[in-house]
Amino acid sequence: MFKIMIDPQDFLEFIKNRRSIRSFQDKQISDNEIQMILEAGRWSPSASNKQPWEFYIIRDKEILKEISNNAFYGRHIKRAPLAIAIVGKKKISPNYYIQDTSLVSMIMMLMAWSLGIGTCWTGALNRKKVKKLLDLGENDYLLTVLPMGYIKGNFPKPTLRTALDQIIKEM
Ligand SMILES: Cc1cc2nc3c(=O)[nH]c(=O)nc-3n(C[C@H](O)[C@H](O)[C@H](O)COP(=O)(O)O)c2cc1C
Repeated sequence: MFKIMIDPQDFLEFIKNRRSIRSFQDKQISDNEIQMILEAGRWSPSASNKQPWEFYIIRDKEILKEISNNAFYGRHIKRAPLAIAIVGKKKISPNYYIQDTSLVSMIMMLMAWSLGIGTCWTGALNRKKVKKLLDLGENDYLLTVLPMGYIKGNFPKPTLRTALDQIIKEM
């Protein structure tokens, strides 16, 4: 029988409390925690279960710095102890690689948050340069780079969301 494992109200609070984190402690993330984040990504849903993705684990400080330099709003990336680049494989799922990898990204961010590890989606990237840096091919889509680290400093202030009654259309 299906067993509810997370209290729904707690889960909603958990989702609402997640924040994008751009300030990280200078402390390595444990292998076990990295593994859990990767494993959560691996269990993401995908169209026809094609799993059109690869995950690049980046610890090299020079590479993190270069990615940082090639992100328009990503100065924080060079201060993260680690980043995961999520890459979509266009040939495996030509119509859904963006949707599938976006779900991976969200699931990894939530898993990280449950471990007290902050992440932030990097959207504004010079993809051409970062792809070269990671040695990605023509059929590889660099969705995002998620810097990760234990949260440093004050907990970020809540962000705003549009009220539900403004985004719901009932028919
Ligand atoms: C597609 C996408 C692209 C984003 N790009 C960036 C980015 O380049 N740099 C950055 O610092 N944050 C980026 N973010 C994070 C958003 O700014 C953040 O999610 C939003 O302001 C809401 O804040 P919250 O995640 O703390 O609730 C991006 C988020 C998404 C979903």
